[in-house]
Amino acid sequence: MRILVTGGAGFIGSNFVHFLRRERPDCDIVVLDKLTYAGNPANLEGVEDEIEFIKGDVAEFEDVEAVVAGCDSIVNFAAETHVDRSIVDADAFIRTDIYGAYVLLETARALGVECFIQISTDEVYGEVAEGFSVETDPLMPRNPYAASKAGADRLAYSYWATHGVPVIISRGSNNYGPRQYPEKLIPLFVTNAIDGLECPIYGEGKAVRDWIHVDDHCRGILTMLEQGEPGEVYNCGGGNLRDTNQMAEGILGAAEAPLDLLKHVPDRVGHDMRYALDSSKLERLGWKPEVDFAEGLRRTVQWYKDNEDWWRPIKSGEFKQWWKHYYLDQGRG
Ligand SMILES: NC(=O)c1ccc[n+]([C@@H]2O[C@H](COP(=O)([O-])OP(=O)(O)OC[C@H]3O[C@@H](n4cnc5c(N)ncnc54)[C@H](O)[C@@H]3O)[C@@H](O)[C@H]2O)c1
Repeated sequence: MRILVTGGAGFIGSNFVHFLRRERPDCDIVVLDKLTYAGNPANLEGVEDEIEFIKGDVAEFEDVEAVVAGCDSIVNFAAETHVDRSIVDADAFIRTDIYGAYVLLETARALGVECFIQISTDEVYGEVAEGFSVETDPLMPRNPYAASKAGADRLAYSYWATHGVPVIISRGSNNYGPRQYPEKLIPLFVTNAIDGLECPIYGEGKAVRDWIHVDDHCRGILTMLEQGEPGEVYNCGGGNLRDTNQMAEGILGAAEAPLDLLKHVPDRVGHDMRYALDSSKLERLGWKPEVDFAEGLRRTVQWYKDNEDWWRPIKSGEFKQWWKHYYLDQGRG
């Protein structure tokens, strides 16, 4: 089995590569990654000699055709992923998340693959005031990131329905774990707390997310790859519903940092106040989340505490301009 992992130098993609090396050591892995601000070769340290890494763009046919040839399966993680950045400028989201998915799907159609996993997200359902989203619910994305993911999600389905490309769609909830770019809640708060900096909470801190440890998500994706039905969508949620205030207190508690670092700042525009997934369809394939949330969060916080040499170069690089532009200049910090 030779698997192409796009976006494999990012947070979940790199965790998936490490996970596959552990769980399926016989698989050949090819990573295609553009190495945007969120992609980091250091994320693949320890497995770099055991995989093939190709720097390239999923939205370029030339780059994609060269790597898809000879692969049995594709797992498409490559995306622009930060909602706040999509609110500032959605251009790269449309190009990578939608057009990039199109290029991959079209190439898979032309060259033939056994399985194409499109990594979608619970955000495609939009805000869910109560209850739990099931796979047949309508998609009502409410921010440009979520809308671009919904576009790719349905485009992928159309390649199954129209062309018979064996596509499976994974809708995962909010992931936590090591090697996440520190613009996202957990690594931002831990690393700020270590430096005694304020941790900005949007609005009242009441936005609820369904948290899943990245290893549980990776196992869910592997379950889909090995046992999923082409043309089907599978939710993959951790079942740990927490609002931002609860997360913030948990993170700072695990980091042994004072709670007065927390600062409420103006809310994200169009902020979805709740996501929640019903994952029973994937559970029927034998998957269930295994990582205990309190223990997983503790280990995650500890990872950032132990790996300053991973995040310090990031926070003194591109991140600094983002922080100034989005937080300081706009009164959020
Ligand atoms: N993080 C979450 O909680 C979460 C939850 C559900 C679904 N997802 C989805 O999982 C996937 C991975 O998310 P993540 O959090 O690891 O993202 P990330 O931002 O950490 O990583 C994205 C990776 O994609 C690469 N990339 C971006 N544009 C590219 C392009 N044009 N060509 C090739 N590579 C490109 C980047 O260099 C980076 O390595 C995304 O599709 C995202 O929508 C994420």
